[in-house]
Amino acid sequence: MNADFGVIGLAVMGQNLALNVENRGYTVAVYNRTRARTEEFMEKKGQGRKLIPSYLLSEFVASLTTPRKIILMVKAGGPTDAVLEQLFSLLSARDIVIDGGNAHYSDTERRIELAQKYDLRYLGVGISGGEEGALHGPAIMAGGDKEGYKQVEQILTKIAGIGPEGACCAYFGPGSAGHYVKMVHNGIEYAIMETIAEAYNLMSRGLKMSAREMADVFGEWNSSDLSSYLFEITEKILRRVDPETGNPLVEMILDQAAQKGTGKWSTQGALDIGSPAPTIAMAVFARVISALKEERVRASTVLSGPDGRIDTDRGQFLQDLFAAVQITVISAYAQGFHQLQDASRERGYSLDLSEVARVWMAGCIIRAKSLTQMAKAFRDEPDLPLLFLVAPFKEIWEVSQAGMRRVVVQAHAAGIPVPAIDSVMDFVDAYRSARLPANMIQAQRDFFGAHTYKRVDRDGVFHTKWEEE
Ligand SMILES: NC(=O)c1ccc[n+]([C@@H]2O[C@H](COP(=O)([O-])OP(=O)(O)OC[C@H]3O[C@@H](n4cnc5c(N)ncnc54)[C@H](OP(=O)(O)O)[C@@H]3O)[C@@H](O)[C@H]2O)c1
Repeated sequence: MNADFGVIGLAVMGQNLALNVENRGYTVAVYNRTRARTEEFMEKKGQGRKLIPSYLLSEFVASLTTPRKIILMVKAGGPTDAVLEQLFSLLSARDIVIDGGNAHYSDTERRIELAQKYDLRYLGVGISGGEEGALHGPAIMAGGDKEGYKQVEQILTKIAGIGPEGACCAYFGPGSAGHYVKMVHNGIEYAIMETIAEAYNLMSRGLKMSAREMADVFGEWNSSDLSSYLFEITEKILRRVDPETGNPLVEMILDQAAQKGTGKWSTQGALDIGSPAPTIAMAVFARVISALKEERVRASTVLSGPDGRIDTDRGQFLQDLFAAVQITVISAYAQGFHQLQDASRERGYSLDLSEVARVWMAGCIIRAKSLTQMAKAFRDEPDLPLLFLVAPFKEIWEVSQAGMRRVVVQAHAAGIPVPAIDSVMDFVDAYRSARLPANMIQAQRDFFGAHTYKRVDRDGVFHTKWEEE
């Protein structure tokens, strides 16, 4: 029996992806560096299934029909290179290798070049949805060799999540397009998670609301235009009670956020191409500051400030908070799409942003009801620079900005940090300013560095000897 598809790497993602492919009627070859993991997988989950385990990479390769279709679900970075180094030399021309891990896009570009030397078809594919998604239907963001994609399209489409506009799987473009889209997906995920954390903090610290009351608010928001996976799980998190203490479990969790690096990459990517993604950046920095627990504890006894209480009409504040959160969440997507558009131009991806929005509608962590309207906005205007310029997002900005401004003022007055919400307020206010104070920056650059400047009244490049009258 030969396998239709191969999976290398049998940690949670690889195991579940292998089972997902097998569930769709394919025979799947599986291999893992450490033999014991494969054996455990076969014993616990492989009984009676069309799975072919191998304990040598050469055996795994031999168990696949040609052209071989192999996905790697191994730790990103060095481990992926280590596997590819062995794998490439065992394969035949035109076999298809898919990296389904969270690779950095520059690594994907480098690996594509290497694969070409072996005449292999290489795909960099972002897979989102975590453990559950991998098993029941992830969002799949593919890029790389187009012919290779055509040959695995049927399998990938069958295992993908199904959204309101079809299977959440698409080919986005050559090179590292798929991994770039997945990277920005994760950046948006960071920004939305931070926004939710800020709303939780304002309610909990500012309004002294109980976990149950906050769960009700998130539940209500999740039945509105804000409906999305991350709001849904936040309600569930707030309802969970710690069996040991009887307290809400979330309150028993140490306030130090970890990260694996994709939010940082997304921000670095935005900086590399001069794309404005301040909210994603602030979300990364918020995690960095959270990690400085000892420093924060010390500073809390040294630096004074307001006590965090927000004394106001709770109903009105919650209404305003909804407005602030809604605008911030839309802005997280808007900044992400802007970055994708800039990267597409810069790196030649030819991304279709309506397709990106469509693929994010199900299976992935940032799936949300509003993506349907975002997909439509980009279908209507493929080069739309910012979502807020068109309906319904323009109207949301118009209606909600006053409430958002009140939240920012009250948060600062109470001494509660709201970096994501704040960054969006500044971002949109800057973006909608026909004139910004950058003229002063240009004057300063010219003053100390003779960097020259342009004038508003005539063409040309100018330099002033500022210290000479
Ligand atoms: N977990 C998620 O929710 C999630 C979501 C989306 C994408 N991803 C991405 O999907 C990929 C797999 O994620 P995961 O969480 O299932 O597993 P992981 O912890 O990222 O990686 C574990 C796998 O990598 C293998 N590995 C590690 N070092 C290796 C090396 N030097 N040589 C060969 N194999 C090596 C391990 O083999 P051994 O058993 O031999 O150690 C194991 O199969 C990653 O790239 C991850 O970033 C994960």
